Amino acid sequence: MNPDLVARIDELKRQRNATILAHNYEPDEIQEIADFTGDSLQLSRKAAHIEADVVVFCGVHFMAETASILSPDKTILMPVLDAGCEMADMVTGEQVRQMKAEHPGAAAVCYVNSSAEVKAECDCCCTSSNAVAVAAAFADAPEILFVPDRNLGSHVAQTSGQKLTCWDGYCPVHDRITSADILAARRSHPDAVVMVHPECTDDVRAGADEILSTGHMCRFAAESEHREFIVGTEIGILYRLRLENPGKTFHPLTLTPSHARITLADILGARQAHPSVSVVVHAECTDQVKAAADEVMTTEEMGRFVASSGGREIVLGVTGGILADLRVANPDHTLHGLLSLPVCPDMKMPTVESVVAALENMQYEVRVPEEIADRARVAIERMISLG
Ligand code: 13P
Ligand code: SF4
Repeated sequence: MNPDLVARIDELKRQRNATILAHNYEPDEIQEIADFTGDSLQLSRKAAHIEADVVVFCGVHFMAETASILSPDKTILMPVLDAGCEMADMVTGEQVRQMKAEHPGAAAVCYVNSSAEVKAECDCCCTSSNAVAVAAAFADAPEILFVPDRNLGSHVAQTSGQKLTCWDGYCPVHDRITSADILAARRSHPDAVVMVHPECTDDVRAGADEILSTGHMCRFAAESEHREFIVGTEIGILYRLRLENPGKTFHPLTLTPSHARITLADILGARQAHPSVSVVVHAECTDQVKAAADEVMTTEEMGRFVASSGGREIVLGVTGGILADLRVANPDHTLHGLLSLPVCPDMKMPTVESVVAALENMQYEVRVPEEIADRARVAIERMISLG
């Protein structure tokens, strides 16, 4: 970390009376400069009681919106305004209104990963830390409408036995994890406890030992007698887990590669890890992945290409089986596979430089229109009062 930038941030924080909040998924260097790091519930609570004029929120858009709703007298800044949440964008206020009209008498609960407009339509909000407790507060309701996460909703229904009708939204980062990934991780680390986030699918949760929000993962890892953990959530959490538990080992959950599962984020990660090395992907990859690669080939073409490449380094976007065969056939070549990990590209957008710019230029302010904020606040404050 550049000490001049850190000093500049300290100076600007003093000048502006500013605090930096960061979600547990943020890049390591952002967590390092943050005054407070936490899960969605902890950040909401912090935002409600913060003693600062300016809050630089390093997270995604709905989090900054929640902070602005809870602290309308403060200036809430996001270092990168484009950092959104794909799941939050999967449902609109209008769609919630329609769902409510189709289910009269039902309670409406939204995951905090939703827009202010959606929160304004709901009776209560929840995070992954308190979703079961929030549902319990609606035990008398004949049915709970739950938006947008079908996986968290299903977890709540299974845990509480309550009737939930869930919107078909999901987090692309967690929904991508499969039970085969869990089995493979268990084979590689047989002594490790498997923790997964409730945004994972039913099958993945069923194959895990613990289903925990990121804040609860930190607490569980610290209090558990186990020494080794497989972490089934966005990899940013590893920074805190390792920092707070120096004697324990944390393995990220790696995703078994298949052509359809390779993402643009995997290609970008490989380019960062192996700059100026050619990236060759299989013809069965998605169009987005093929467009980001240097070459697109069939298995046969790849075999010929590697054999005639004179032993240079190559990044190969192929399944584990094809990569293993190519390594056996070309023992003198350096062939990198694509390391597939659960990464949320939006959470990785803030940089230390963008935090400096946010404080210097007071950018980019997030403010929710008063009429929506007033209604959304009711749902968020109700959640905070429930636990
Ligand atoms: P928590 O930090 O509340 O577990 O939420 C995870 C998440 O996906 C936030 O976007
Ligand atoms: Fe949204 Fe990213 Fe969190 Fe998934 S990991 S819920 S996409 S912010």
